[in-house]
Amino acid sequence: MHFLLVIACIVIPSLGVDLPSHTAKCLHLPEDREWPTSHEWKQLNTSVGGRLIAGLPLAHACHGTEYDHAQCQQIQANFTLPLTYYQDPVNVMSPYWLNDTCDPLTSQNASCVLGNMPSYAINVQDAKSVQAGLKFAQRKNIRLVIKNTGHDYIGRSNGKGSLSLWTHNLKTMQIINYKSSAYTGKALKAGAGVQFFEANQFAADNGVRVVGGYCPSVGMVGGYIQGGGHGPLASSYGLAADNTLEFEVVTVDGRHTVASPTQNSDLYWALSGGGAGTYAIVLSATVKAHQDGPTAGAAFEFENTDENTYFAGIGAFHQWLRSATKVPGFASSWGFNNQAFQLNVATLTNGTQKDMETVMAPLLKSLKALNITVLQYAAKSYDNYHAQYEAYTFPPEIYATNNSLGGRLIPGTLIDNNLSGLIETYKTVVKDSSFYNRISGISVNVTHARVGNTAASNSVLPAWRDALITLNFGVGFSPDADSAELQASQVKVNQWQTLFRNLTPGGGAYMNEATFDDPTWKEDYFGSNYNRLLKIKQKYDPKFVLWQHTSVGFDAYWQLDGRGALCRVKS
Ligand SMILES: Cc1cc2nc3c(=O)[nH]c(=O)nc-3n(C[C@H](O)[C@H](O)[C@H](O)COP(=O)(O)OP(=O)(O)OC[C@H]3O[C@@H](n4cnc5c(N)ncnc54)[C@H](O)[C@@H]3O)c2cc1C
Ligand SMILES: *[C@@H]1O[C@H](CO)[C@@H](O)[C@H](O)[C@H]1NC(C)=O
Ligand SMILES: *[C@@H]1O[C@H](CO)[C@@H](O)[C@H](O)[C@H]1NC(C)=O
Ligand SMILES: *[C@@H]1O[C@H](CO)[C@@H](O)[C@H](O)[C@H]1NC(C)=O
Ligand SMILES: *[C@@H]1O[C@H](CO)[C@@H](O)[C@H](O)[C@H]1NC(C)=O
Ligand SMILES: *[C@@H]1O[C@H](CO)[C@@H](O)[C@H](O)[C@H]1NC(C)=O
Ligand SMILES: *[C@@H]1O[C@H](CO)[C@@H](O)[C@H](O)[C@H]1NC(C)=O
Ligand SMILES: *[C@@H]1O[C@H](CO)[C@@H](O)[C@H](O)[C@H]1NC(C)=O
Ligand SMILES: *[C@@H]1O[C@H](CO)[C@@H](O)[C@H](O)[C@H]1NC(C)=O
Ligand SMILES: *[C@@H]1O[C@H](CO)[C@@H](O)[C@H](O)[C@H]1NC(C)=O
Repeated sequence: MHFLLVIACIVIPSLGVDLPSHTAKCLHLPEDREWPTSHEWKQLNTSVGGRLIAGLPLAHACHGTEYDHAQCQQIQANFTLPLTYYQDPVNVMSPYWLNDTCDPLTSQNASCVLGNMPSYAINVQDAKSVQAGLKFAQRKNIRLVIKNTGHDYIGRSNGKGSLSLWTHNLKTMQIINYKSSAYTGKALKAGAGVQFFEANQFAADNGVRVVGGYCPSVGMVGGYIQGGGHGPLASSYGLAADNTLEFEVVTVDGRHTVASPTQNSDLYWALSGGGAGTYAIVLSATVKAHQDGPTAGAAFEFENTDENTYFAGIGAFHQWLRSATKVPGFASSWGFNNQAFQLNVATLTNGTQKDMETVMAPLLKSLKALNITVLQYAAKSYDNYHAQYEAYTFPPEIYATNNSLGGRLIPGTLIDNNLSGLIETYKTVVKDSSFYNRISGISVNVTHARVGNTAASNSVLPAWRDALITLNFGVGFSPDADSAELQASQVKVNQWQTLFRNLTPGGGAYMNEATFDDPTWKEDYFGSNYNRLLKIKQKYDPKFVLWQHTSVGFDAYWQLDGRGALCRVKS
């Protein structure tokens, strides 16, 4: 389907704060004459209480006159760890966007520049600092980005020559008794910088649990929640975006306000699943907090000793998932390459070890019938969700950043109708020996029947409701891969994404775990919500001050020129 972008003229009410809008044809880069002077940056710094930070390449200590041997060794050791990036105001985890512009593993005389990373960041403290950044960027014709943890795969938290609003230090958390026409019960209000290792601990200390990701360092309130957000509890309570009650925001015109089902309800709808960093800057989100209770876990693996048997085992696993996912509260995370299959964690909320064993039994029986030796199998009970999560939280190396990935939502009906086609496609990927590659899957049940909401509730991509699996396929590479290799890996994951798209026509992909240059991104990432989301974007950000790849309307207003500056598509 091709979307015609008819820009409707939407009249927005006068909003008090009269902000100048980006007026230049192209936004300025540091090398441009029009770039703000150091005096102007200093004024901005003063207006944000000294919280302006100049961007530095992560490996700056490894190059040039700033060379510092000890510091360089540290960055070499930590270059692929998420921690290194989420503590940094401008650098992001995706090697594709870092683009090898400052490699800690090359010689001291090798070039080291910021490349695609922001030139400055405001260490956001409150609405005032966000307003100051919005105003400065628009008045000075500078690109603006929002960075939380920097986990984003598709380059939405960085931008060349940009000013970044860095939300990492907004760490407040509060349990409240929430009451609205839509929901009465406990809720967690979390600042935009809160990460899951913090939210899960805090929730457990208060006898509740909240929907969060498998990766403990992803941010709760930024790209995750705005893009949908899956995790071990999604099959119990829905996606993260199904759990939002309200957002505290600063809109692009500078208003500090609330978006909820009863206030700015269109903005609330868009922020709950319609894509990250597109509609407003979120300062905090209030989400449902659910009664905590016992949680069971299980894990196992098997090896590829004979190819036919191995893939038959993977097929049996999928057939079992089809029924296991009907069990309330069951979810799983698993993965395989050409050598071994691992069920990293199965979760059964409110379940005991015995309940989990009952769910697992048919699978173990099928694998046994195939003569597959199951290794390291164990099912266990835990007192609460956090204890189970901690038991299966993988060491940080598991989340090493040196990879590129693509994704596709796999509907349950594909298992019924063409399991052999799916398995053949898996084989194509894992047997491609020119790449270090891996398939991984998360099983969910986020049907409206399970979640208890309707299609109108929020802007989550409708394909999620039919999905049994959100699938990822990744290419790993050495930490010092050069830009040619990074581009080749991107081409590869796009090819694979096409194979899985062809298997699931009319379906979709989880925008947070797919590619930035998918040619059918509108259908794949937003589906039938696209046009309504575009109208909301035009209402709240008519000049597309918030711009990034693969976000609603990104092709309508700006495009990158050869230098990496944002230039108007229309004059
Ligand atoms: C190792 C790893 C594991 C992952 N595991 C999971 C998982 O288990 N489940 C899952 O659903 N996803 C997972 N993801 C994907 C994750 O959801 C996305 O990377 C997401 O974009 C991260 O959001 P962030 O805010 O933490 O990151 P950032 O990269 O800082 O931001 C991502 C996007 O959100 C925008 N944004 C950030 N903060 C705000 C704000 N306050 N207001 C408005 N916009 C904002 C940014 O501008 C950007 O567009 C994983 C990613 C990685 C790299
Ligand atoms: C902003 O001001 C603070 C406090 O004076 C200072 O430490 C910091 O270096 C300044 N930032 C920039 C980018 O100059
Ligand atoms: C970085 O690596 C060094 C050496 O391995 C280690 O001591 C240090 O704690 C690491 N720092 C971070 C921020 O991970
Ligand atoms: C990475 O760098 C190469 C070489 O300079 C350039 O051609 C390419 O466009 C860059 N990619 C990104 C994503 O910036
Ligand atoms: C950088 O230094 C290496 C030796 O350390 C040398 O081989 C190389 O030619 C130098 N490159 C440049 C661009 O000066
Ligand atoms: C878990 O148990 C609690 C307390 O008994 C109950 O309120 C809740 O509905 C159950 N949740 C799930 C997902 O089964
Ligand atoms: C999801 O759960 C619902 C309600 O619990 C159930 O009817 C349905 O069969 C499940 N769907 C899948 C795909 O497992
Ligand atoms: C499994 O092994 C048994 C005993 O060696 C054999 O009889 C049976 O045919 C095998 N089954 C399969 C599916 O290979
Ligand atoms: C099953 O998938 C394969 C792709 O591997 C495709 O060629 C085939 O047409 C599909 N079959 C059906 C019935 O859709
Ligand atoms: C990714 O980096 C880690 C080190 O951080 C390394 O152990 C691993 O082998 C790398 N992956 C590839 C495919 O090179």
